[in-house]
Amino acid sequence: MIITNFKTYATATGKAAIDLAKTHQDVADETGAYIGISVQAIDLMAVCQAVKIPVWAQHIDPISHGSNTGHVLPELVKEAGAVGTLLNHSERRLERSVIEASLKRAKEVGLKVILCAKDAEEVESFVELEPDFIAYEPPEFIGSKDISVATGKPEIIEKAAKLVGQGKLIVGAGVKDGHDVETSIQLGAHGVLLASAITRAEDPKALLRYLVNGLS
Ligand code: G3P
Repeated sequence: MIITNFKTYATATGKAAIDLAKTHQDVADETGAYIGISVQAIDLMAVCQAVKIPVWAQHIDPISHGSNTGHVLPELVKEAGAVGTLLNHSERRLERSVIEASLKRAKEVGLKVILCAKDAEEVESFVELEPDFIAYEPPEFIGSKDISVATGKPEIIEKAAKLVGQGKLIVGAGVKDGHDVETSIQLGAHGVLLASAITRAEDPKALLRYLVNGLS
């Protein structure tokens, strides 16, 4: 499983988000790999209409229809075509009570959740919440061009995989090549979450193909 988090990178926003989404679709079609993307709320509907690959939101708020200004409504994320959402990403941290309320809303509307954790302690504390996936991302390696979670924290990946269980751990932060993917999978991760390697790449399609090779 490879999921690219588009964040708010210029190369992954608006029309560029649709173009980059189509690049991911092409590689998914070529390889048969699970390749997903996580896009900004405003891009969600247009991207879901442009591609068939799984599209994830970057965040939802624990609200329902009504007088809520400036929030992300779970029902609309679902209606837009998203399969699920990230939650508690290091760049969008939430209180525990908000996480629990958001998980409840996601389940009510049929959205899967990738619950992000910054360290092994958070991974352990999130298991009881039973999200669909837990994404372990050490913040210090996010955006790094040198060290990745696979090269910098292999022992934590192994520990987290045991805590989370088979097929439920995703890892990210500094993932940039097939070796990072291969190592993460060998250590027990089910997939990887990445951003800057793809959004900064001269040739994102070539890089995606390289990353997919690491899955096998
Ligand atoms: O959600 C994934 C992201 O935080 C990882 O960022 O740029 O290190 O791949 P990056």
